[in-house]
Formats: sequence, structure tokens, C-alpha cells
Amino acid sequence: MENLKIRNTIVFYLNGQRIEVTGADTLKPFAHYLRYFLDKPGTKIVCSEGDCGACTIMVANFRSGSLQKFQAINSCIAPVFSLDLSHVVTVEGLADEQGLSVVQKAFVANNGAQCGYCTPGFVCAMTALAEDCVIENKPITAKKARNYLTGNLCRCTGYEPILKAATSIDLKEVKSLTRYVSKESLADFVSLSNSVEISGSNFKINMPTTLAEAAEIKSADTRIIAGATDLGVLINKDKFSLVKVLNLVHISELQKVQFVDGKCKVGARVTLTQLEESLKMHSPEFAEILKIFASPQIKNNATLVGNVVNASPIADTIPALMILNTVIVTLSKMGSRRIAITDFYKGYKQLDLLPEEIVTHVEFQIPRADQIFKLFKASPRKDLDISVVTFAGLFSLDQKMITDTRIAFGGVGPVVIRMHELEKKFIGRQFTQELFTTLSHFVEKEISPLSDLRGSREYRLKLGENLVKKCYTEISTEYGL
Ligand SMILES: Cc1cc2nc3c(=O)[nH]c(=O)nc-3n(C[C@H](O)[C@H](O)[C@H](O)COP(=O)(O)OP(=O)(O)OC[C@H]3O[C@@H](n4cnc5c(N)ncnc54)[C@H](O)[C@@H]3O)c2cc1C
Ligand code: FES
Ligand code: FES
Repeated sequence: MENLKIRNTIVFYLNGQRIEVTGADTLKPFAHYLRYFLDKPGTKIVCSEGDCGACTIMVANFRSGSLQKFQAINSCIAPVFSLDLSHVVTVEGLADEQGLSVVQKAFVANNGAQCGYCTPGFVCAMTALAEDCVIENKPITAKKARNYLTGNLCRCTGYEPILKAATSIDLKEVKSLTRYVSKESLADFVSLSNSVEISGSNFKINMPTTLAEAAEIKSADTRIIAGATDLGVLINKDKFSLVKVLNLVHISELQKVQFVDGKCKVGARVTLTQLEESLKMHSPEFAEILKIFASPQIKNNATLVGNVVNASPIADTIPALMILNTVIVTLSKMGSRRIAITDFYKGYKQLDLLPEEIVTHVEFQIPRADQIFKLFKASPRKDLDISVVTFAGLFSLDQKMITDTRIAFGGVGPVVIRMHELEKKFIGRQFTQELFTTLSHFVEKEISPLSDLRGSREYRLKLGENLVKKCYTEISTEYGL
């Protein structure tokens, strides 16, 4: 089965039709390629940065030898090459000879559109929702629809008719998107499961199938692109251009979440949606913070490793990882390294990561049943918003005595901070409101927030203090302490 010949084209199926792309066009944002090269203008481009959902399409990727389920993604920030070996369905693919799809009909019946510019994106996101509910055999509730549609903005209809459309969908009428997936297309993907190299006078894209190949390819001037939810925005804003690109999506061993000996090992190509699903059983608190991370469209592409390496001080996953004894595993031609996350961040966006190194995995401890784990994200809006301050806390108690504590804050300095001094003050003390109130005033001694568009220094200091108090309130309520 293995075909060692290197491929120099990107192949995907669009509404059932086979498309091959080669050369520099493979670097274009997918939405742009759809509209201007494939004559499919139904997919709209508004913000070009993953925020509005107008460009939503549905994608089923062929990964590790099988086709995954259809998921909604933002096509404005996804480069064409990232859709290699995928089935793509756009708004043009929803209706059939019998007329509009059940989701489109629900929009019409409930007056879900006015100017209509956001509508293709909403309809595609809602189709992915309906597809999911059919697979899970669960109804579309208003709550579920709200969560699913957090990545879609409408500025003129108002959300009530859109939610009514969602909840009115008769799931028995849904015609699955898998109607586009033929046996021949899957056999085609199998026959194409080899490494990709596409180059031109000023660019080169590599998509290897093994880690050994990837380590050989990764040079100091080669940039890894994962879900492109950070890099795709920078590219669209002309702040970064793709020259030498390494994409690890065809390496099967990087697609797994593994739970071994109380630890979770996450491969570099595991998406946040996949991680959220896997953590529901093992760490509901971590899964909950992922629930309010960005939007479904972003999480269906974004990776945990991308969040860690992007190294934003307000990255939502880093505070949790900071207190869960996380190790960053790297690989390069020189070999492998294991770096404690507490040593990984050297300054604002400065990492203990050599330019030739690939992060292959992130390993973290799953909080034990006798540990109390708390994660908070403070942002102006609950959904699809960037954090102002983030908090992670892990407490071990013997009766009411605090025997161990780990605390981290984000958004209060150039990197996410472990609060070593504050932690020491908790240990050996009784778990009381008075203790948390007193110690909340020590937060400002260890953090150095700046004022920016999202919040002033004073606001962040106050938030830091209040999150420690909130920690007490939540724990005492949940655990009856
Ligand atoms: C609309 C929108 C909303 C967002 N909301 C949130 C949010 O709520 N919370 C939050 O924390 N972030 C948010 N983000 C930021 C972003 O989604 C995350 O940081 C995401 O996890 C990045 O992952 P990615 O796979 O897309 O990374 P990419 O954009 O592909 O890459 C990010 C960085 O990681 C490097 N990289 C990726 N993989 C590797 C590897 N294996 N080895 C070495 N380097 C690697 C890349 O070279 C790049 O420097 C949002 C972004 C958008 C566009
Ligand atoms: S155009 Fe706004 S999310 Fe893509
Ligand atoms: S219908 Fe006009 S933006 Fe939604």
C-alpha cells in the first residue's frame, strides 16, 4: 500500500468533485481560492481573521487512514494546503435536486436572514451542528445551538430567529454530508497517503508522513504551521509570509491523545476540539475552559501545541499546563529533549526552543481525585473573546488543612506566571474565607500587569485579587468546605 513517491499536488474533494492544486496557489487562503479560482462565491469573506464565521465551510479530513466526521472551520485563515486529503462541502453543496436543505428551509421559515451576508456561514455552521446531533442521536436544543454558533456574527437579523431556525430543524430530514463521500474518493486518499513537497522559486511546503522525515526537513528558516489560527491571521494582515513551511498533519503519531499513568500525552496535531472531547472524562475542569476557548470553527483546527508555542501571555491553556507538571517534548536532527513548561518561557514570546526543533508532544499530569483544580478566564464577553486575566489553581487538602498548592496567572506580565511566593503562604493553613481574602492582597506583589486596550494595570490587579476570592467561593460551595 505504501507509496514512497513524493507528491507535488494538494488533493481535496469539493462538494464531491475532485480538485488538484499545485504551485504557489496552495498557499492561498482557502476562502480566497474558493471564491476567485473555483468560482464558488457563496462562501463570504468579512473579517479575514477567524472572528465572524462568514467563511464557514464543512470539512471531513482523511487522517491516520480514516475519514473523520464533518466539522465547521473558518476558511479565511486556512491555507489551501491544509485541506489536503479532505472532503469539503460549501454552501453551494447543501441544496440538491429536491430543493434547499432542511437547515436552509429552517432559515427561510424563521426569517433567519436580512442582508444575508452572514447567512452562508450560519447555515454551514448549523449544518455541522445538525450532522453532529444526528450522529449523537440528540436533539438541537437552544443551548447547544448557542454554543455551536458562537463563531458566527450577524449584525442585522438578531439571533432570536436564527436560534428558532436551529431548534426547528427536524433531524429525521437531515441528509448527511457523507453523501459526498464515495468509495472511490476514499481509495483515492489511500493511494495518495504519501509525503507532499511543493516548491517554487520563492517557497517550499513540506508535509511529511513520518517524524524522522520532519526532523530532517526542519531547518532554522522553516516555519511549522499547524491549525493556522494564529499564523493565518498574521498572513492575512501581511505581518507574516509563508516561505518555507512544514506541516505535520500527515504524521499519524501526532494525532493522538493518550492517557498513561495519570498523565495525558497530546500530539502536536491534536486539535482543541479533540482534546476537549478527550478531557471531559479525565479532567472536566480543563474541558470546561476549552469549551469557552474561541469558537468551534477555531477549535476544529487549532492545536494545543500551537497555543503553547505561540506563547501568548493570555493563552487560555498555558495557566493550566503551568500547574500540571507539564513537559514539552521536542525533536530535531540532534535528538529529542524534554523541557519543563516552567522553564520553557524565557520572556515575552521567547522560548527554550531551538530554531531546528519541532514540538512533538505536550505531556501533563491529570489532576488526581484528591486534588481540587480550578481554572478561570476573565474576558469582556464569555464566548469568542480574548482573556484579560486567566487563573489556574490546584489545591490538596487534609481535612481543612491545605497541604499543597500550585497557582498560575496569565495576562499579568510578559509570560504566564507561577505564583511561588503566594503558593508558600497557603501551605499549612486552614481553608477559610479569611485566608483567601488576606492572601488575595499578596497577588499584586508577584505580578506586573501592563495597561493595554483590553484592560488597565489597575483593572488586572483587581481581577487577580478577585479571582483568588472567587476560587474560595467556588471550592467551598462545590465541596461543602
Ligand atoms: C478568532 C480567534 C479566536 C481565538 N481565541 C482564542 C482563545 O480564546 N484563547 C486562546 O488562548 N487563543 C485563542 N486564539 C489563538 C489561537 O487559536 C490559539 O493560539 C491556537 O491554539 C493556535 O494553534 P494553531 O494550531 O492554530 O497554531 P498555528 O497558528 O498553526 O501556529 C502557532 C505557532 O505555533 C508554532 N507551532 C505550531 N506547531 C508547532 C510544532 N509542532 N512545533 C513547533 N512550533 C509549532 C507555529 O510555528 C506558530 O509560531 C484565537 C484565534 C482566533 C483567530
Ligand atoms: S471571514 Fe470572518 S471568520 Fe473568516
Ligand atoms: S443577515 Fe445581515 S449580517 Fe446577518
